Amino acid sequence: MGRLHATSYQRLPSRFPELGIRPRLVVAADPIEENQQAAVEQFGVERAVASIEEVLADPEVEALSICAPNFLHRDFAVAAARAGKPFWIEKPMGVSAAQSREIHDAAATARGGAGVATAVGFNYRHAPAVAHLRAMIAEGRLGRITNVRCWLIADYASSPDGPLTWRYDRDKGGSGVIGDLLSHGADLVQHVTGQRLTEVTATSDTFIPERPLPTTVGVGHGGFEIGDERGPVQNEDWVAALGTLSGGAHATLESSRVARGHRSDYALEVFGTEGSARWSFTRMNEFEVMLGEGGTEHGFTTVLAAAGHGEYSRFQPSPGIPMSFDDLKTIEAAAFLSDVVHGTRLAPSAADGLSAAEICEAVVRSAASRAWESVPQT
Ligand SMILES: NC(=O)c1ccc[n+]([C@@H]2O[C@H](COP(=O)([O-])OP(=O)(O)OC[C@H]3O[C@@H](n4cnc5c(N)ncnc54)[C@H](O)[C@@H]3O)[C@@H](O)[C@H]2O)c1
Repeated sequence: MGRLHATSYQRLPSRFPELGIRPRLVVAADPIEENQQAAVEQFGVERAVASIEEVLADPEVEALSICAPNFLHRDFAVAAARAGKPFWIEKPMGVSAAQSREIHDAAATARGGAGVATAVGFNYRHAPAVAHLRAMIAEGRLGRITNVRCWLIADYASSPDGPLTWRYDRDKGGSGVIGDLLSHGADLVQHVTGQRLTEVTATSDTFIPERPLPTTVGVGHGGFEIGDERGPVQNEDWVAALGTLSGGAHATLESSRVARGHRSDYALEVFGTEGSARWSFTRMNEFEVMLGEGGTEHGFTTVLAAAGHGEYSRFQPSPGIPMSFDDLKTIEAAAFLSDVVHGTRLAPSAADGLSAAEICEAVVRSAASRAWESVPQT
């Protein structure tokens, strides 16, 4: 993710020229020397160091990205806020709702109460098709929203021989796939409908209870060597939840990291009294919509992404040309730095990160209590 943040900043002058922002990548922090070298040689960062303290102490650093493993987010973000530096932080914001609240509050009260700008990595919001669905719903074109289905199903952890990295440790990774993927779903559902999840009921499971311990360090899910010794997986592989939205609509959410064959199947369907719409990340550059009754052509129409849908026209010259995941991150970088420089508050912010964290924690509580749990509103 750090690599993607770096390239996203670099693309701003060409994609969002009107912002007048030409980011300088002053310093990267990573304890692994090889990653430091990559930051400088491949990603155009001026220098690289082992620890974030040097980044925070550098007066030339005016804003930073936090892309470290989840358990480091709270300390890094709170330290950034105390140093008066705005930050773009990856999701899940903290490993718990309490940590996410600390991050949110530190940012809100920084600089003597003026606060610092924040952004959170809820990148699926920025897909032009998703932006357009949100606009259609806000205009009432689907009528009253009755229910939403959202799932983020993947198989990045489906091999039982996948190494026991920080992601499977409750203290380091938090609530497994709930914080990792369901947090995106919680944010998407709220963002697209304009309603808040107020209560949830859920069930969850861990299908692969043990994994081999890595014997080397690596990045992401791969690049590690493993030994014969195994250790316990401490957090969730799969979760399904029902939710109630503040406007009276219902939501169903599901996430898995072990759904073999589903590489990154992230999808959203919204149903209203006047129509339905759906979007899937596997076909990011289109959405399907059904409005009214439709007569003999009753059914979904596929619409390809085009100018007029979110930020599409900044990236592609004519309709139907695919955009990529990287482009979503460039849009997020623009929203973040626009807030930092111009105070425009466009990005999903720490407030959104906290809201998603409260939903995820209510899901964890419900899976344990087997009861409906209310979601504290932020
Ligand atoms: N928004 C998204 O769609 C998305 C996708 C993937 C990951 N993420 C999030 O991004 C974050 C990072 O995930 P990843 O997959 O890149 O993890 P990763 O394990 O591949 O990389 C983490 C990096 O942090 C470095 N690191 C470890 N300790 C550090 C320290 N003390 N100081 C500085 N750097 C340190 C590691 O050396 C490594 O380079 C996580 O919070 C994850 O949930 C978000």
